[in-house]
Amino acid sequence: MCEKIHVGIIGLGAYLPDRVLTNKDLEKMVDTTDEWITTRTGIKERRIARADEATSDMATEAAKRALNDAGLKAEAIDLIIVATITPDMLFPATACLVQDKIGARTVPAFDISVACSGFIYGLAIANQFIGSGTYRHALVIAAEKLSAITDWNDRSTCVLFGDGAAAAVLGPVEKGGILSAYLGANGKQGELIKLPAGGSRIPATKKSVDDRLHFIKMNGVELFKHAVKVMAEAALEATRPLGLKAEDISLVIPHQANLRILNAVAKKMGLSKDKIYLNIDKYGNMSAASSAVALVEAVKEGRIKKGDKILLDAFGGGLTWGAIVIEW
Ligand code: ACO
Repeated sequence: MCEKIHVGIIGLGAYLPDRVLTNKDLEKMVDTTDEWITTRTGIKERRIARADEATSDMATEAAKRALNDAGLKAEAIDLIIVATITPDMLFPATACLVQDKIGARTVPAFDISVACSGFIYGLAIANQFIGSGTYRHALVIAAEKLSAITDWNDRSTCVLFGDGAAAAVLGPVEKGGILSAYLGANGKQGELIKLPAGGSRIPATKKSVDDRLHFIKMNGVELFKHAVKVMAEAALEATRPLGLKAEDISLVIPHQANLRILNAVAKKMGLSKDKIYLNIDKYGNMSAASSAVALVEAVKEGRIKKGDKILLDAFGGGLTWGAIVIEW
């Protein structure tokens, strides 16, 4: 009988643009205050990519750093997945652009569009391919240039988002690795956050631009309620099959949408707040890249030790959600 292949993260890398946009800077752009943003969201500043810097550029830099961390060359990669809602263009896929830029072989490369749940969806897909023995090494990259689809005149959304990228190299490990993954979606709630134009429903026209339909539209209050519910449920669904309780999880790496959402999730899960990794103050909501960058930084800061069981947990536009348990 074939032995089970344990699939783990064997390399990590992140890329954050240099430019920092603070809440004070935003005070000069829209009718808002540092105090409102901080108390309502936990965000103090976010990174903004250069005008000539696209999602594939950030994704490529993160991928190179992850490959370096894994001690692998690009030729060793058998599969490339990019999670993004801000691809360089509708097609070709950003993953194909990254494949070329890092000098990978002509391996399968595709994007997934599940907003903030993208990194977790990507890890779950790669886990299936490696776990089944189809591929040996996969690159899962989460990269977003949300500043390109943010309405900088809309104070209810522009204070929330930022740009960044992170990548993980997945491969076989001796033990542990990804222990369980739980994914979900509910298309009925798709209206709560969306980019209305630029696709086949509303192609770009002068009117669509004048109506500002190429920017994120969001119902924040409704999303807030769903976020708390589905993140807590996803955590439960991912841990229950393993017989794990909240206290068995060393650290939760959540999607960083709002500090108040994360405090509410911690309460619902019966977890102390210090078990929830936070970096929302520095980067805001980077959609798919948020949980990925958080994982990279948590490892770098020594918050995750060998043998720890960690939980990644996210929700996003779609709506989509997902949670994954990894033994480090
Ligand atoms: N500065 C000052 N005042 C503001 C701002 C701002 N930037 N934005 C909104 N306000 C005002 C509103 O106009 C409103 O004023 P009013 O009472 O006079 O009408 C008041 O503040 C309260 O607005 P609410 O929307 O009720 O504020 P709330 O406390 O719900 O916070 C927020 C808003 C931060 C957006 C919150 O609802 C939230 O975080 N929701 C979840 C959003 C989310 O997770 N989005 C990401 C989805 S994931 C993805 O796929 C990208």
